[in-house]
Amino acid sequence: KPVSEATAVKAPVLPDAQTVTEVKHWTDSLFSFKVSRPASLRFRSGEFVMIGLLGDNGKPLLRAYSIASPSWDEELEFYSIKVQDGPLTSKLQHIQPGDQLILRPKPVGTLVHDALLPGKRIWFFATGTGFAPFASLLREPQTYEDYDEVIITHTCRDVAELDYGRELIESIKQDEMLAELIGEGFADKIRYYPTTTREESPKMGRITELLKDGTVFADLGIEGGIKSETDRAMVCGSLAFNHDIKAILEDFGLREGANSEPKEFVIEKAFVG
Ligand code: A2P
Repeated sequence: KPVSEATAVKAPVLPDAQTVTEVKHWTDSLFSFKVSRPASLRFRSGEFVMIGLLGDNGKPLLRAYSIASPSWDEELEFYSIKVQDGPLTSKLQHIQPGDQLILRPKPVGTLVHDALLPGKRIWFFATGTGFAPFASLLREPQTYEDYDEVIITHTCRDVAELDYGRELIESIKQDEMLAELIGEGFADKIRYYPTTTREESPKMGRITELLKDGTVFADLGIEGGIKSETDRAMVCGSLAFNHDIKAILEDFGLREGANSEPKEFVIEKAFVG
């Protein structure tokens, strides 16, 4: 088939159509994918957009997805769960390179550097697919301009659910293009702290419990725990997780900030449950 014929078949039929360029399945319930980036789309690392497909009724079926790629990237990456009877993800999990999806080019969100006051150490607390905005922020030069130390914790039920995050961090540490962009040695600032709650792994337990009993600080050699003068945090997980972490951070004296009022921590719900 001549190329022109093949591409003619794939001509945009959706509103705000973008083309899928890559799909990777991580587990039975997790996958990541990349799509073309609209030339006009500007976003801040950590923000989310609405993406989706046409529903059976012909209307767009959209959900909020954190952009997992950094703001400078040419493509947009997303990280998603697959819910077998989920209205969107039951379909979305079958997308293939060359397929199209809908992407509303209106990025928003609170997990942005602008919403935090200056500090020395930043904590990224994620559960499950809540890792996605941090996949963006870990490749964002400002993260390393603003902080001396970047601690990313990721709590999942099973070991395989950590793969996306772990592989991403490993690839960041070996990425010469990133080192050139951000500065040699930037990756040495990253400290990765994965935990599982169901399947056996080297570090087990909810991060909330490990913070409360001081295990995290002992493991990372941090004296005095989290301090409001120097520590900043971004949180992305389930509602219950966000609620519990918020209480812990407030106990350490940190206050929740927003774009309009930067403070010491910010929270966003991991979308698509
Ligand atoms: P747990 O296995 O103890 O529920 P889920 O798959 O339900 O979204 O959860 C993702 C991870 O987040 C799991 O490891 C889960 O631990 C953990 N988690 C769920 N709720 C909380 C919470 N309120 N505080 C801390 N961790 C939580």
